[in-house]
Amino acid sequence: MLSVAQREEVTGHRGMVAWFTGLSGSGKTTVARALDHLLHSHGKRSFLMDGDVLREGITSDLGFSPEDRTENLRRFTEVARLFANAGTITLVSAISPYEESREKARERIGAERFLLVHVATPLEVCEARDVKGLYAKARAGKLPQFTGIDAPYEEPENPDIKLVPEDGDPGVMAHTVFDALKSRGFLGEA
Ligand code: ADX
Repeated sequence: MLSVAQREEVTGHRGMVAWFTGLSGSGKTTVARALDHLLHSHGKRSFLMDGDVLREGITSDLGFSPEDRTENLRRFTEVARLFANAGTITLVSAISPYEESREKARERIGAERFLLVHVATPLEVCEARDVKGLYAKARAGKLPQFTGIDAPYEEPENPDIKLVPEDGDPGVMAHTVFDALKSRGFLGEA
């Protein structure tokens, strides 16, 4: 059986997971998407696992109760782990509101190849943007258990990277994460 190290020899860089957590509308997918492009343009093998997209298939049977979110994130963790084992720089973008789920992901994937990125856009900013109109629905009582409104978001205790709006636009944030991956040796010869 091929080892992870053998697969990494082909790409010249590590397989790993950069896990983006944050409120709906925080910009985590936008930053992860920009980072995906950046990595690709540097010849790195990357892949974006977006919560909204995965929920259309691998977790389409799940909703937003605490139990379902926990199971949703458990499955994301398993898929991300496989991608990392395949030698891919795997970008997960999911609200992931529970510290326990995030820490389980870190453990299961392996702390030495896991990076937690907290896109810490404040609730007021996310709500003012309301890109998908979901905050308005939640405030009107039409979308129960909405994160930040009537469902919790537990602030990460130990994020590897914390991004706030003052850090710049999503493109700048993507470069910040790229530089962090590089300095931690995840990119091989970048
Ligand atoms: S998580 O909590 O299980 O990590 P995930 O990131 O997969 O959530 O899915 C969040 C997306 O589902 C949001 O971007 C939003 O579009 C949609 N959504 C629908 N209902 C809710 C809800 N009650 N709370 C949060 N997001 C919701």
